Amino acid sequence: MGVLTLGVVVPITLVSLILSNAVFNLYFHPLKNFPGPWFAGASRLWYSLKVFQGRHKYAIKTLHDDYGLVVRIAPNELSYIDPGAWNDIYGKNAHHNGSHTLEKETGTFGAGFGNSETLVDADSTTYKAQKKNALRGFSHQELIKKGGIMTFYADDFIQNLKNSFEKGNLGAVNIDAWIGNTILDIHGKLVIGQDFGAIHRGPLLHFIVKSMHKAVTVIQYVALLQYLPRVFTSLLSLPIFPRRDIFAVFSNLPPLGPAINERIATEKGLDKSSDMVHHMMAEGTIDHDTIRKNSFILILSGVETLPGYICSILYYLLENPQYFAKASNEIRISFQSQDEITPASTQDLPYLKSCLNEALRLSPPFVGALPRRVPPAGVTICGQFVPGGTIVGIHNWSLTHSTRYWKNPEQFRPERWLGDSAYADDKREYFRPFGFGPRTCVARHLVIIEAGLILAKILFEFDMELDASCGPRWPINRGHLVPTRQPLVVTVKSRTGNK
Ligand code: HEM
Repeated sequence: MGVLTLGVVVPITLVSLILSNAVFNLYFHPLKNFPGPWFAGASRLWYSLKVFQGRHKYAIKTLHDDYGLVVRIAPNELSYIDPGAWNDIYGKNAHHNGSHTLEKETGTFGAGFGNSETLVDADSTTYKAQKKNALRGFSHQELIKKGGIMTFYADDFIQNLKNSFEKGNLGAVNIDAWIGNTILDIHGKLVIGQDFGAIHRGPLLHFIVKSMHKAVTVIQYVALLQYLPRVFTSLLSLPIFPRRDIFAVFSNLPPLGPAINERIATEKGLDKSSDMVHHMMAEGTIDHDTIRKNSFILILSGVETLPGYICSILYYLLENPQYFAKASNEIRISFQSQDEITPASTQDLPYLKSCLNEALRLSPPFVGALPRRVPPAGVTICGQFVPGGTIVGIHNWSLTHSTRYWKNPEQFRPERWLGDSAYADDKREYFRPFGFGPRTCVARHLVIIEAGLILAKILFEFDMELDASCGPRWPINRGHLVPTRQPLVVTVKSRTGNK
């Protein structure tokens, strides 16, 4: 066959394959009767493109606005915002007479993490022991007990920011970087009993934080590659493409990788209640390599979610000065000095709590779809049979931004959590920012305690103003699993009033 003939035959064959696949998906696929636009049902290209652009959360929300509670977002994938789906998809024993849980969809969770059978990607039998041990370190009680660690680093952060301010170094600062470094030190200490002196770098991001931002981006793209048509994935597996386990590369990078290894190797000599590695090693049932990977994941998860979360609250408070005044008044009236602000003492501050909730609703730092794979026999979700092999998930972003469930869903309104009658019809009971069922976020107590503590300390000490660079579009961001980070530039001032 001549080159010319090949040049004609190959494209024609490819186009015919793509078209016949699209026709099958639209007219013969078992999901053909689920609502959704034709371009999403015909091929995965549309959804993959939106994920690649980091815009899928907005795109899926638009589809739910147009098509309702369940939408076909790709040939074999359904997205739900029906609250009944929380139990049907994520609930323990929701199917098969009490014996079944839908497994995590490995393309998203497994591929990016090198299919490493860790806390985030292991199937339900393998992960049980890991989660049981990890949960001990994350219980509310244990965290309040370890409050001193968080308080120590939060105070160090405030003191450094203040010093910098008093030396006249502060004009506008990127507070996201300061908080990113602080979270690295807190999570280093909580997980492996070691900080990295990151707080003392002020606004200069520590290398570990920078490499974690990169890791998350790369992990997201590796996960995305799994969904390319098989012809491309087969090409990628050819020996001419380097085969590297991206997750292994990032999790071994110095100084964090060696620090984790050293911590695991010295377990026996340490105070037994010291850190999360201790809890993971306690029963001796989990191998060291898994503990190493889980330690990395626990530090990465903190660094990649908490700073963005805390910054989003600061942004909304600064954008609405009346809210900033209310939140800071609550803190300044409740405490006389920084010493009094601790994880235990910040538990009962209703206004702070309402801000923590409202930012999780409006700008959650976890924007993935929580996908699960339907087992071969199929299951019933919200009264409809869904065939085996389908990927299903609640799209939390669409649920928490839907006018079906929330009044003014695009607006930051802490009062909706405080019994304001204007928001009496909001469906707060559908709000599950940390997921549902056995795979709920292991760190849900930690997130609220840590974010509340750091915010309270900032609001006690400083007044702030948003820099002009952080306009109304600041919250509009891209991202696949977590939003891409962007600077939050603020001018820090000594506080006025209540001192
Ligand atoms: C505001 C911050 C956070 C939010 C909104 C959040 C949200 C979530 C959600 C929705 C899930 C469930 C995923 C699913 O069901 O497929 C999850 C799982 C998980 N999260 Fe978080 N997370 C946050 C911070 C953290 C932090 C700081 C850590 C670690 C220190 C962490 C560790 C984990 C782990 C290990 C899992 C997997 C649990 C399992 O599969 O059993 N998360 N998170």
